[in-house]
Amino acid sequence: MRLNKQIQIINSDYRFFMKEKTIIFIILHTEKQLLCVLIKFLLNFYIYLFIYQINDFGNESIKAIQIKSIYEIIQHCQSQYQSMIQMLISGDLVESLIKRINLCQNLEVLILQLNSSNISKKQAAVLGQGISRCSNLNNLDLNLGVNQIDDCGLEALVSEFYKCRQLKDLNLNVFYNQIGCKGAIILGKKLAQCYNLQTLHIHIGSNQINSDGFIGLAEGLCEIKHLNKLELINPYSQICSKGHQGFEKQIRKCTNLEYLSIQIQENQIGQNDIFAEELRENEEIAVSNKIKMYSLNIEKNNLNSEWMTAFSRFLSGMKNLQVLNLNFKSCNLRSEELITLSKAFIFLNNLKTLNLQIQENTIQHEGISEFMNKLEYCFNLVNLEIQMEQSKLNLESCLQISNSLSKLPVLNTVKINFKYCDIQPDSMVALVSKLKFNDSIQFIYFDLCYNNITKMAFQKSKQLINKICKLVHFSYKVEIW
Ligand SMILES: *[C@@H]1O[C@H](CO)[C@@H](O)[C@H](O)[C@H]1NC(C)=O
Ligand SMILES: *[C@@H]1O[C@H](CO)[C@@H](O)[C@H](O)[C@H]1NC(C)=O
Ligand SMILES: *[C@@H]1O[C@H](CO)[C@@H](O)[C@H](O)[C@H]1NC(C)=O
Ligand SMILES: *[C@@H]1O[C@H](CO)[C@@H](O)[C@H](O)[C@H]1NC(C)=O
Repeated sequence: MRLNKQIQIINSDYRFFMKEKTIIFIILHTEKQLLCVLIKFLLNFYIYLFIYQINDFGNESIKAIQIKSIYEIIQHCQSQYQSMIQMLISGDLVESLIKRINLCQNLEVLILQLNSSNISKKQAAVLGQGISRCSNLNNLDLNLGVNQIDDCGLEALVSEFYKCRQLKDLNLNVFYNQIGCKGAIILGKKLAQCYNLQTLHIHIGSNQINSDGFIGLAEGLCEIKHLNKLELINPYSQICSKGHQGFEKQIRKCTNLEYLSIQIQENQIGQNDIFAEELRENEEIAVSNKIKMYSLNIEKNNLNSEWMTAFSRFLSGMKNLQVLNLNFKSCNLRSEELITLSKAFIFLNNLKTLNLQIQENTIQHEGISEFMNKLEYCFNLVNLEIQMEQSKLNLESCLQISNSLSKLPVLNTVKINFKYCDIQPDSMVALVSKLKFNDSIQFIYFDLCYNNITKMAFQKSKQLINKICKLVHFSYKVEIW
């Protein structure tokens, strides 16, 4: 009993599976010095320290195993929690691990944090075999980032996951592992056989995956019939416009998908402009329209008007969208692209939360005006956050922002970052002049630092806004009085 309680403290994040006995291992590479340092360290913090040998248990009642990296345990110790730690000291990390997993085939939850552990493709294959014997597994969290797995290793790792018929949640991190196009396509094919997957989180960034690999991956994933939530993280790779659009087109075929998050910052989008196929005018793109939450992080790509035209059409198909997060930071956007994007918002009438990042681009006032104008169609919008740093605003565009915000009937929270937007004193007053909200709780946060705002303009704005709204916060810095 005591054992369970203490482990719970370590793992407060993982309370959900703590009903059953849970064992924590720390895997140590054999360096004796590191071990000595660690033991001293733990004793200093009055940690109960128990060292178990490999063969000490093989208990069928174990339902969950979590192996955390040593670095994390040390962090927990620093926060002064008393913790009981079982140590598995092993020369060959993966093989001893497999032995443990093979002894616990009733496992329902398995969390392995084996990133930066020098895992080869051969070891990945053995690990895959061990995992595939756990036929009751329903939650697998496998962090294998920064190892040497490569295409063959990845194939061997996942090829028998389908044997875990109860698998519902999979978190697979194979970031930085020399994986190429072939590996990505095979991953899609193999996961397509995991019929019961509902939640899938894949981190495959910093490999050598090009557009064909990315599309191939989506072709597999879209066959998982029950997939409800997909998060795909693939930054620092070689995807171009064709790859991103091909992926989006495929993934919309997942008929039960409600949550979709794609992170493809710092790829080669817009640099290599061959599109998958020209989308015909009025072509029905989305096969499924169930998506409620969509996030796209495409920061630091070189987006152009062709890309945006196609993207805007994808977006306008998401008619049931409630939460939208778009990160277009440093994407070479001009007013033209923002205007193209804004056309999609006419169709997003169910949107409740929008978080838009368009900072560090070269957007002019006409882009912002047009965008705000189209945002008025999102009449269910409750939370709005826009980072528009370095856009250029004039008096008209500030009036437009004010006007459009006032037309959103249930808007509750507004956060806009206007840093370096060339706002002049009269524009500042215009920005708040039209705001009118009803009695619901409101929070308005305008960050107006690094503009030309006089004290008088600031005070006048504050007076105006205090009449209509309870919670207002301006931050500003007066550049020129
Ligand atoms: C392993 O990954 C986790 C989660 O991403 C991270 O917090 C941890 O620092 C990583 N450990 C090593 C040794 O890189
Ligand atoms: C990584 O594993 C290989 C064998 O797969 C071994 O030769 C090498 O020494 C290991 N490197 C480290 C840093 O442990
Ligand atoms: C006032 O706000 C509430 C919700 O915050 C909304 O339901 C209502 O329609 C608004 N009334 C008017 C007159 O805009
Ligand atoms: C700042 O605003 C004042 C008052 O409108 C104006 O006289 C001044 O030229 C502006 N300065 C800059 C740098 O735009």
